[in-house]
Amino acid sequence: MTTKMPRKITIFDTTLRDGEQSPGCSMNLKEKLEVAQSLVDLGVDVIEAGFPITSIGDFEAVREIAGTVSGATICGLARCREADIDRAWEALKDGSNTRIHVFLATSAIHREFKLRMDKEEIIRRAVEGVKRAKSYCDDIEFSPEDAARTEHDFLCQVVEAAIAAGATTVNIPDTVGYATPTQFAEVIHMLVNRVPNIDQTVLSVHCHNDLGLAVANSLAAVENGAGQIECTINGLGERAGNCSLEEAVMALRTRSDYYQAETGINTQRLVPISRLVSNITGMVVQRNKAIVGRNAFAHEAGIHQDGMLKEPTTYEIMRPEDVGFTKTDLVLGKHSGRAALADRSRALGYHLTDEQVDAVFVDFKKLADKKKEIYDGDIAALIEQRNTEIGDQWQLVSYEIQATSGLVRQAKIVLSRGGQESEATNSEGDGPLDALFLAIEKITGKSVVVKDFRVQSASRGKDAQGESLIEVEHNGRVYRGRGASTDTVEAGVRAFLNAINRIEAGQDTNKPSGAV
Ligand code: KIV
Ligand code: ZN
Repeated sequence: MTTKMPRKITIFDTTLRDGEQSPGCSMNLKEKLEVAQSLVDLGVDVIEAGFPITSIGDFEAVREIAGTVSGATICGLARCREADIDRAWEALKDGSNTRIHVFLATSAIHREFKLRMDKEEIIRRAVEGVKRAKSYCDDIEFSPEDAARTEHDFLCQVVEAAIAAGATTVNIPDTVGYATPTQFAEVIHMLVNRVPNIDQTVLSVHCHNDLGLAVANSLAAVENGAGQIECTINGLGERAGNCSLEEAVMALRTRSDYYQAETGINTQRLVPISRLVSNITGMVVQRNKAIVGRNAFAHEAGIHQDGMLKEPTTYEIMRPEDVGFTKTDLVLGKHSGRAALADRSRALGYHLTDEQVDAVFVDFKKLADKKKEIYDGDIAALIEQRNTEIGDQWQLVSYEIQATSGLVRQAKIVLSRGGQESEATNSEGDGPLDALFLAIEKITGKSVVVKDFRVQSASRGKDAQGESLIEVEHNGRVYRGRGASTDTVEAGVRAFLNAINRIEAGQDTNKPSGAV
């Protein structure tokens, strides 16, 4: 009997590019490096680190990741324009394993209304873009944006021309999440059968989730010959997001009998990286999210529990430990040392330098004086608190609040910056945070509109740290902030101050659109 060798599917992660484009998900450089390192641990093949022409922040992130992160191909996105491609290469050139990803829309709607270009012009520009990118680097990906809505004959022509020009990967995006599995499978099947030089490239797919079909569409494409899936951690991405990496990977693994395909993903890192990305971006993972949601393996119905006890495979198609759920939340405490903290941080997916571990250990000791048991969630909150720190920033020194029910709240706050203290007194508001936020605005001179504010428990117990996430608008731009403390008011104040510091550092969450 001959057994068929499974096909290796390339996992192209775009959490740092398409994922970061989703509202409220932007990350600072430290955070992006943290995610990139964890993606390498996870075993992804390609990391799309950003879109260098769009901002200094994106450029720096791609440059830093290409220069320092090894173990995966680092990719930068560019439109089919000389300036974009040159800028992408400028960011990538110090890396040893790099890819330039160029894209140009091909659908009739995009040609007519966005680009105002005819078909010949599109082909000419696509070819020029691929060739220019190829003059810098061997590994070139080309994407006909909105491919899923492009006329089949024209799509074949563009793909053939891009491959002839040197594209080593051709990616077929369902940019607006319009495709359905059978129809998208037909597009891939059609390309495999009609494009004469298709065997000279890797066929990739990039599906958006507007109809909740991104994973299904990507898997249908794999069945029909796609060799690369573009995806993101927790399915982050523009609008309803991209294909969720953890779902696509676990579908291929769990149903390898059907797909005859495999990936290089270390699946036990899926839950840690999902939590890491959720902590960094503030995008909460829904409890019933497949694979990484808190309830993904929780069996509630008695009949299921009974079956599970008799034989786990009665109701379980994957084991929680295979995706990185641990049976116990390891508890640290007052007597735990620096090594134990460093070890837990690593297990949680963080890559801290010795200096960073020292700093977090100071916070850990302070917290251990206040609460007996320190859980993973507490450690993540402490690390994130440090991650959000930005150079020369406002620091909280102290605050006082008078809060009597029925009376207006009065606050006093002292902040410091560069060793200089500033104070605001008699600030009034409807609630303690309202009064304190106003006092911070008075001192910093930054006035904002609060768009969203949440406090959640970082771990468990009445003494758990409160983790606060805030989104504020200033001069038409949106900024995120986070703060943690065993006192929920203090957590809110820290989050607000963090958002103000981000305003001063120009770290907004708005991204210019990728439109040509
Ligand atoms: O959705 C899309 O079409 C994209 C391309 C840049 C690949 O993100
Ligand atoms: Zn996209």
